[in-house]
Amino acid sequence: MHNTLSTEVRAVAEELTACRRALHQRPELSFAEHETTAFIEAQLRALGITDIDRPTKTGLVAHIFGSKPGKPAAVAVRADIDALPIAEDNDLPFLSQNPGVMHACGHDGHTAMLLSVAKLLSQSRGSFCGEARLIFQHAEELPPGGAIELYRAGASKGLDALLGLHLSSAYPTGVFGIKGGPLTANVDRFDVILTGRGGHCALPEQCIDPVVAGAQLVLSLQTVVSRRVGATDPAVLSVCKFVSGASYNIIPDEAQLSGTIRSFSPQTRAHMEAEIRRITEGVAMSTGTRAQMEWTAGYPSVFNDAALTTLARSVLHDRFGEEGILDIACVAPGEDFSYFLADAPGFFVELGTRTAAGGCDMPHHNPRYRMDESALPRGVQFELDMLRKLLDGTRENLPERSPSCA
Ligand code: NI
Repeated sequence: MHNTLSTEVRAVAEELTACRRALHQRPELSFAEHETTAFIEAQLRALGITDIDRPTKTGLVAHIFGSKPGKPAAVAVRADIDALPIAEDNDLPFLSQNPGVMHACGHDGHTAMLLSVAKLLSQSRGSFCGEARLIFQHAEELPPGGAIELYRAGASKGLDALLGLHLSSAYPTGVFGIKGGPLTANVDRFDVILTGRGGHCALPEQCIDPVVAGAQLVLSLQTVVSRRVGATDPAVLSVCKFVSGASYNIIPDEAQLSGTIRSFSPQTRAHMEAEIRRITEGVAMSTGTRAQMEWTAGYPSVFNDAALTTLARSVLHDRFGEEGILDIACVAPGEDFSYFLADAPGFFVELGTRTAAGGCDMPHHNPRYRMDESALPRGVQFELDMLRKLLDGTRENLPERSPSCA
Protein backbone atom coordinates (compact mmCIF):
# COMPACT_ATOMS: atom_id res chain seq x y z
CA MET A 1 0.00 0.00 0.00
CA HIS A 2 2.89 2.33 0.78
CA ASN A 3 5.29 3.67 -1.78
CA THR A 4 2.66 3.84 -4.45
CA LEU A 5 1.81 6.49 -6.96
CA SER A 6 -1.82 6.88 -7.95
CA THR A 7 -2.93 5.62 -11.35
CA GLU A 8 -3.47 9.17 -12.64
CA VAL A 9 0.08 10.22 -11.69
CA ARG A 10 1.59 7.10 -13.24
CA ALA A 11 -0.30 7.90 -16.41
CA VAL A 12 1.45 11.29 -16.78
CA ALA A 13 4.92 10.18 -15.68
CA GLU A 14 6.28 9.82 -19.20
CA GLU A 15 5.09 13.20 -20.49
CA LEU A 16 6.29 14.77 -17.24
CA THR A 17 9.84 13.67 -18.02
CA ALA A 18 9.50 14.79 -21.64
CA CYS A 19 8.25 18.21 -20.49
CA ARG A 20 11.13 18.60 -18.05
CA ARG A 21 13.62 17.75 -20.78
CA ALA A 22 12.01 20.21 -23.20
CA LEU A 23 12.35 22.93 -20.57
CA HIS A 24 15.90 21.85 -19.83
CA GLN A 25 16.83 22.44 -23.48
CA ARG A 26 15.46 25.99 -23.41
CA PRO A 27 16.71 27.59 -20.21
CA GLU A 28 16.28 31.32 -19.74
CA LEU A 29 17.81 33.74 -17.26
CA SER A 30 15.96 35.43 -14.42
CA PHE A 31 13.56 38.19 -15.56
CA ALA A 32 13.98 37.03 -19.19
CA GLU A 33 11.88 33.84 -19.14
CA HIS A 34 9.78 34.93 -22.15
CA GLU A 35 9.77 31.65 -24.09
CA THR A 36 9.35 29.64 -20.92
CA THR A 37 6.28 31.60 -19.85
CA ALA A 38 4.82 31.38 -23.38
CA PHE A 39 5.38 27.62 -23.27
CA ILE A 40 3.65 27.35 -19.89
CA GLU A 41 0.71 29.42 -21.07
CA ALA A 42 0.32 27.35 -24.26
CA GLN A 43 0.38 24.12 -22.25
CA LEU A 44 -2.26 25.42 -19.84
CA ARG A 45 -4.53 26.71 -22.60
CA ALA A 46 -4.29 23.35 -24.36
CA LEU A 47 -5.69 21.83 -21.16
CA GLY A 48 -8.66 24.18 -21.30
CA ILE A 49 -7.35 26.36 -18.48
CA THR A 50 -8.24 29.92 -19.46
CA ASP A 51 -8.19 31.78 -16.17
CA ILE A 52 -4.61 32.97 -16.52
CA ASP A 53 -2.99 36.18 -15.29
CA ARG A 54 0.32 37.61 -16.41
CA PRO A 55 0.85 40.18 -13.63
CA THR A 56 4.56 40.62 -14.42
CA LYS A 57 6.53 40.39 -17.66
CA THR A 58 7.46 36.74 -17.21
CA GLY A 59 5.49 35.43 -14.22
CA LEU A 60 2.20 33.57 -14.68
CA VAL A 61 -0.67 32.72 -12.36
CA ALA A 62 -3.34 30.16 -13.33
CA HIS A 63 -6.58 29.63 -11.44
CA ILE A 64 -8.36 26.27 -11.59
CA PHE A 65 -11.74 26.02 -9.89
CA GLY A 66 -13.07 22.75 -8.52
CA SER A 67 -16.70 21.66 -8.65
CA LYS A 68 -16.82 19.60 -5.49
CA PRO A 69 -19.56 20.95 -3.22
CA GLY A 70 -18.70 22.28 0.25
CA LYS A 71 -16.92 25.18 1.88
CA PRO A 72 -14.45 26.50 -0.70
CA ALA A 73 -10.88 27.57 -0.01
CA ALA A 74 -7.99 28.92 -2.07
CA VAL A 75 -4.63 27.15 -2.04
CA ALA A 76 -1.63 27.82 -4.25
CA VAL A 77 1.38 25.84 -5.38
CA ARG A 78 4.36 27.86 -6.51
CA ALA A 79 7.05 26.69 -8.95
CA ASP A 80 10.04 28.81 -9.95
CA ILE A 81 10.89 28.76 -13.66
CA ASP A 82 14.25 30.49 -14.19
CA ALA A 83 17.71 29.15 -15.06
CA LEU A 84 21.29 30.24 -14.32
CA PRO A 85 24.20 31.84 -16.19
CA ILE A 86 26.15 28.56 -16.27
CA ALA A 87 27.50 26.72 -19.30
CA GLU A 88 26.24 23.14 -19.07
CA ASP A 89 28.95 20.50 -18.89
CA ASN A 90 26.90 17.33 -19.11
CA ASP A 91 26.70 14.45 -21.52
CA LEU A 92 22.96 14.17 -22.10
CA PRO A 93 20.69 13.88 -25.13
CA PHE A 94 18.71 16.94 -24.00
CA LEU A 95 21.44 19.47 -23.24
CA SER A 96 20.81 23.19 -22.95
CA GLN A 97 20.45 24.74 -26.41
CA ASN A 98 21.00 28.21 -25.00
CA PRO A 99 24.78 28.74 -24.69
CA GLY A 100 25.91 29.87 -21.26
CA VAL A 101 22.51 29.28 -19.69
CA MET A 102 21.52 26.16 -17.79
CA HIS A 103 18.76 24.80 -15.62
CA ALA A 104 21.28 23.90 -12.93
CA CYS A 105 18.98 24.21 -9.94
CA GLY A 106 16.10 21.94 -10.96
CA HIS A 107 13.57 24.65 -11.75
CA ASP A 108 12.82 22.85 -15.04
CA GLY A 109 11.61 19.96 -12.87
CA HIS A 110 9.55 22.28 -10.66
CA THR A 111 7.84 23.77 -13.71
CA ALA A 112 7.15 20.41 -15.36
CA MET A 113 5.69 19.02 -12.13
CA LEU A 114 3.32 21.95 -11.73
CA LEU A 115 2.18 21.56 -15.35
CA SER A 116 1.35 17.91 -14.60
CA VAL A 117 -0.58 19.03 -11.53
CA ALA A 118 -2.47 21.49 -13.74
CA LYS A 119 -3.39 18.69 -16.13
CA LEU A 120 -4.57 16.29 -13.45
CA LEU A 121 -6.58 18.97 -11.63
CA SER A 122 -8.23 20.18 -14.81
CA GLN A 123 -9.28 16.58 -15.52
CA SER A 124 -10.72 16.06 -12.03
CA ARG A 125 -12.49 19.26 -11.06
CA GLY A 126 -14.95 17.24 -9.00
CA SER A 127 -12.09 16.21 -6.68
CA PHE A 128 -11.64 19.62 -5.05
CA CYS A 129 -13.67 22.50 -3.71
CA GLY A 130 -12.61 26.08 -4.41
CA GLU A 131 -9.54 27.44 -6.12
CA ALA A 132 -6.24 25.75 -6.89
CA ARG A 133 -3.87 28.54 -7.86
CA LEU A 134 -0.71 27.70 -9.74
CA ILE A 135 2.01 30.33 -9.46
CA PHE A 136 4.75 30.01 -12.08
CA GLN A 137 7.29 32.40 -10.61
CA HIS A 138 10.08 34.04 -12.56
CA ALA A 139 13.49 35.10 -11.26
CA GLU A 140 14.02 33.15 -8.07
CA GLU A 141 17.76 33.13 -8.64
CA LEU A 142 18.39 36.87 -8.89
CA PRO A 143 17.59 39.14 -5.93
CA PRO A 144 15.37 41.09 -5.47
CA GLY A 145 13.66 38.15 -7.19
CA GLY A 146 10.31 37.56 -8.86
CA ALA A 147 8.29 36.62 -5.79
CA ILE A 148 8.20 40.14 -4.37
CA GLU A 149 6.89 41.45 -7.71
CA LEU A 150 4.17 38.80 -7.90
CA TYR A 151 3.27 39.36 -4.26
CA ARG A 152 2.93 43.11 -4.82
CA ALA A 153 0.81 42.40 -7.91
CA GLY A 154 -1.59 40.40 -5.73
CA ALA A 155 -0.68 36.90 -6.91
CA SER A 156 -0.99 35.47 -3.40
CA LYS A 157 -3.99 37.58 -2.30
CA GLY A 158 -6.91 35.71 -0.75
CA LEU A 159 -5.05 32.44 -0.28
CA ASP A 160 -5.70 30.13 2.66
CA ALA A 161 -2.42 28.28 2.22
CA LEU A 162 0.59 28.12 -0.07
CA LEU A 163 2.84 25.21 -1.01
CA GLY A 164 6.32 25.11 -2.50
CA LEU A 165 8.82 22.42 -3.42
CA HIS A 166 12.50 22.32 -4.28
CA LEU A 167 14.26 19.35 -5.80
CA SER A 168 17.54 18.66 -4.02
CA SER A 169 20.61 16.62 -4.75
CA ALA A 170 21.33 16.72 -1.00
CA TYR A 171 18.78 13.94 -0.34
CA PRO A 172 18.25 10.47 -1.83
CA THR A 173 15.88 10.18 -4.77
CA GLY A 174 12.22 10.30 -3.89
CA VAL A 175 12.72 11.12 -0.21
CA PHE A 176 10.95 14.22 1.10
CA GLY A 177 12.92 16.45 3.48
CA ILE A 178 10.56 18.17 5.86
CA LYS A 179 10.92 20.65 8.71
CA GLY A 180 8.43 22.76 10.66
CA GLY A 181 9.18 26.38 11.58
CA PRO A 182 12.06 28.24 9.97
CA LEU A 183 13.54 26.40 6.99
CA THR A 184 15.81 29.02 5.45
CA ALA A 185 17.51 32.04 7.03
CA ASN A 186 16.91 35.74 6.56
CA VAL A 187 19.95 36.77 4.54
CA ASP A 188 21.08 40.38 4.92
CA ARG A 189 24.21 42.31 4.09
CA PHE A 190 25.78 45.48 5.37
CA ASP A 191 28.52 47.71 4.00
CA VAL A 192 30.15 50.40 6.14
CA ILE A 193 32.56 53.14 5.16
CA LEU A 194 34.37 54.77 8.09
CA THR A 195 35.90 58.06 7.05
CA GLY A 196 38.69 59.58 9.15
CA ARG A 197 41.55 61.84 8.20
CA GLY A 198 44.73 60.40 6.79
CA GLY A 199 48.27 61.57 7.33
CA HIS A 200 51.78 60.74 8.50
CA CYS A 201 52.12 57.55 10.49
CA ALA A 202 54.37 59.28 13.01
CA LEU A 203 51.89 62.08 13.67
CA PRO A 204 48.67 60.23 14.60
CA GLU A 205 47.52 63.14 16.77
CA GLN A 206 46.97 65.13 13.56
CA CYS A 207 44.92 62.34 11.99
CA ILE A 208 41.69 60.44 12.60
CA ASP A 209 42.68 56.83 12.16
CA PRO A 210 39.96 54.75 10.41
CA VAL A 211 42.00 51.53 10.88
CA VAL A 212 41.73 51.71 14.67
CA ALA A 213 38.07 52.72 14.38
CA GLY A 214 37.39 49.80 12.01
CA ALA A 215 39.14 47.34 14.31
CA GLN A 216 36.99 48.61 17.18
CA LEU A 217 33.89 48.22 15.05
CA VAL A 218 34.71 44.61 14.13
CA LEU A 219 35.14 43.71 17.80
CA SER A 220 32.13 45.68 19.01
CA LEU A 221 29.89 43.99 16.44
CA GLN A 222 30.79 40.62 17.98
CA THR A 223 28.59 41.56 20.95
CA VAL A 224 25.43 41.64 18.80
CA VAL A 225 25.06 37.85 18.66
CA SER A 226 26.80 37.07 21.97
CA ARG A 227 25.08 39.73 24.12
CA ARG A 228 21.97 40.99 22.30
CA VAL A 229 20.39 37.80 20.86
CA GLY A 230 18.96 34.97 22.96
CA ALA A 231 20.85 31.70 23.36
CA THR A 232 18.08 29.64 21.70
CA ASP A 233 17.70 32.03 18.78
CA PRO A 234 20.17 31.11 16.03
CA ALA A 235 21.91 34.09 14.43
CA VAL A 236 25.19 34.80 12.68
CA LEU A 237 27.08 38.03 12.10
CA SER A 238 30.31 37.84 10.12
CA VAL A 239 32.45 40.78 9.08
CA CYS A 240 34.09 39.26 6.02
CA LYS A 241 35.71 42.25 4.41
CA PHE A 242 37.91 44.94 5.99
CA VAL A 243 39.83 47.03 3.49
CA SER A 244 41.95 50.03 4.45
CA GLY A 245 45.29 51.59 3.76
CA ALA A 246 47.90 51.30 1.03
CA SER A 247 51.21 51.58 2.83
CA TYR A 248 52.80 50.72 6.19
CA ASN A 249 53.63 54.35 6.91
CA ILE A 250 50.49 56.27 5.87
CA ILE A 251 47.38 56.57 7.98
CA PRO A 252 44.59 56.16 5.42
CA ASP A 253 41.47 58.27 4.98
CA GLU A 254 38.93 55.51 5.20
CA ALA A 255 38.15 51.90 6.01
CA GLN A 256 35.57 49.75 4.27
CA LEU A 257 33.86 46.90 6.09
CA SER A 258 31.27 44.46 4.79
CA GLY A 259 29.47 41.62 6.43
CA THR A 260 26.57 39.22 6.35
CA ILE A 261 23.83 38.55 8.86
CA ARG A 262 21.70 35.41 9.13
CA SER A 263 18.66 35.19 11.36
CA PHE A 264 15.48 33.12 11.51
CA SER A 265 12.72 35.39 12.78
CA PRO A 266 11.53 38.81 11.63
CA GLN A 267 11.95 40.12 15.19
CA THR A 268 15.59 39.06 15.49
CA ARG A 269 16.27 40.34 12.00
CA ALA A 270 14.98 43.83 12.82
CA HIS A 271 16.64 43.78 16.24
CA MET A 272 20.05 42.89 14.77
CA GLU A 273 19.83 45.62 12.17
CA ALA A 274 19.03 48.20 14.86
CA GLU A 275 21.90 46.99 17.07
CA ILE A 276 24.40 47.05 14.20
CA ARG A 277 23.40 50.58 13.26
CA ARG A 278 23.59 51.75 16.88
CA ILE A 279 27.04 50.22 17.46
CA THR A 280 28.38 51.60 14.19
CA GLU A 281 27.20 55.12 15.03
CA GLY A 282 28.61 54.74 18.54
CA VAL A 283 32.04 53.64 17.34
CA ALA A 284 32.11 56.48 14.81
CA MET A 285 31.22 58.99 17.48
CA SER A 286 33.80 57.69 19.95
CA THR A 287 36.59 57.64 17.37
CA GLY A 288 35.73 60.87 15.57
CA THR A 289 35.18 59.10 12.27
CA ARG A 290 32.10 59.40 10.07
CA ALA A 291 30.14 56.23 9.31
CA GLN A 292 28.09 55.59 6.22
CA MET A 293 26.11 52.38 6.21
CA GLU A 294 24.34 50.63 3.38
CA TRP A 295 21.93 47.87 4.31
CA THR A 296 20.87 45.31 1.70
CA ALA A 297 17.99 43.05 2.69
CA GLY A 298 18.07 39.66 0.99
CA TYR A 299 15.32 37.06 0.91
CA PRO A 300 13.47 36.62 4.19
CA SER A 301 13.32 33.31 6.03
CA VAL A 302 10.89 30.64 4.81
CA PHE A 303 8.71 29.72 7.76
CA ASN A 304 6.82 26.42 7.58
CA ASP A 305 3.43 26.54 9.27
CA ALA A 306 3.03 23.92 12.02
CA ALA A 307 -0.41 22.66 10.92
CA LEU A 308 0.66 22.38 7.29
CA THR A 309 3.83 20.55 8.31
CA THR A 310 1.76 18.02 10.28
CA LEU A 311 -0.60 17.58 7.35
CA ALA A 312 2.31 17.12 4.92
CA ARG A 313 3.84 14.50 7.18
CA SER A 314 0.60 12.50 7.30
CA VAL A 315 0.00 12.87 3.55
CA LEU A 316 3.54 11.64 2.85
CA HIS A 317 3.27 8.84 5.38
CA ASP A 318 0.02 7.56 3.84
CA ARG A 319 1.44 7.68 0.34
CA PHE A 320 5.09 6.71 0.69
CA GLY A 321 5.57 5.40 4.23
CA GLU A 322 8.13 6.56 6.80
CA GLU A 323 10.97 5.65 4.43
CA GLY A 324 9.75 8.45 2.18
CA ILE A 325 10.25 11.10 4.88
CA LEU A 326 13.44 12.63 6.22
CA ASP A 327 13.51 15.16 9.05
CA ILE A 328 15.93 17.83 7.95
CA ALA A 329 17.66 20.82 9.53
CA CYS A 330 17.54 24.33 8.09
CA VAL A 331 18.76 24.59 4.50
CA ALA A 332 21.44 27.13 3.63
CA PRO A 333 20.31 28.81 0.38
CA GLY A 334 17.82 31.65 0.57
CA GLU A 335 14.36 31.28 -1.04
CA ASP A 336 12.08 34.09 -2.12
CA PHE A 337 9.00 31.85 -1.64
CA SER A 338 9.00 33.58 1.75
CA TYR A 339 7.56 36.83 0.33
CA PHE A 340 4.23 35.12 -0.38
CA LEU A 341 3.99 34.08 3.27
CA ALA A 342 2.91 37.61 4.19
CA ASP A 343 -0.43 36.69 2.56
CA ALA A 344 -0.95 33.12 3.79
CA PRO A 345 0.69 30.40 5.86
CA GLY A 346 2.81 28.07 3.78
CA PHE A 347 4.78 24.87 3.61
CA PHE A 348 7.95 24.35 1.61
CA VAL A 349 9.34 20.84 1.08
CA GLU A 350 12.62 19.47 -0.29
CA LEU A 351 12.43 16.45 -2.61
CA GLY A 352 15.55 14.36 -3.07
CA THR A 353 16.91 13.61 -6.57
CA ARG A 354 20.29 12.16 -5.63
CA THR A 355 21.67 8.89 -6.94
CA ALA A 356 25.36 8.27 -7.41
CA ALA A 357 24.59 6.37 -10.62
CA GLY A 358 24.31 8.65 -13.62
CA GLY A 359 26.05 11.51 -11.83
CA CYS A 360 22.91 12.69 -10.04
CA ASP A 361 24.86 13.68 -6.95
CA MET A 362 26.41 16.96 -8.08
CA PRO A 363 25.50 20.08 -6.13
CA HIS A 364 23.02 22.59 -7.51
CA HIS A 365 24.43 25.54 -9.50
CA ASN A 366 27.19 23.26 -10.80
CA PRO A 367 27.75 22.88 -14.59
CA ARG A 368 27.46 19.10 -14.12
CA TYR A 369 24.29 19.22 -12.02
CA ARG A 370 21.83 16.44 -12.93
CA MET A 371 18.67 15.18 -11.35
CA ASP A 372 17.25 11.69 -11.01
CA GLU A 373 13.98 12.27 -12.84
CA SER A 374 12.33 9.28 -11.21
CA ALA A 375 11.57 11.56 -8.24
CA LEU A 376 9.38 13.89 -10.30
CA PRO A 377 6.11 11.87 -10.22
CA ARG A 378 6.39 11.76 -6.44
CA GLY A 379 6.51 15.56 -6.35
CA VAL A 380 3.38 15.72 -8.50
CA GLN A 381 1.69 13.22 -6.19
CA PHE A 382 2.56 15.26 -3.11
CA GLU A 383 1.29 18.53 -4.58
CA LEU A 384 -1.95 16.89 -5.73
CA ASP A 385 -2.56 15.09 -2.43
CA MET A 386 -1.95 18.28 -0.44
CA LEU A 387 -4.21 20.38 -2.68
CA ARG A 388 -7.05 17.89 -2.45
CA LYS A 389 -6.72 17.60 1.34
CA LEU A 390 -6.73 21.36 1.77
CA LEU A 391 -9.54 21.87 -0.76
CA ASP A 392 -11.72 18.99 0.44
CA GLY A 393 -14.74 21.22 1.09
CA THR A 394 -14.50 21.08 4.90
CA ARG A 395 -11.83 23.76 5.46
CA GLU A 396 -10.78 21.57 8.40
CA ASN A 397 -7.25 20.91 7.18
CA LEU A 398 -6.48 24.58 6.62
CA PRO A 399 -4.04 26.37 8.92
CA GLU A 400 -4.95 29.40 11.00
CA ARG A 401 -5.93 32.30 8.79
CA SER A 402 -3.35 34.69 10.19
CA PRO A 403 0.10 34.26 8.65
CA SER A 404 2.60 32.53 10.91
CA CYS A 405 5.41 34.77 9.77
CA ALA A 406 4.16 38.32 9.31
NI1 NI B 1 16.59 26.80 -6.90
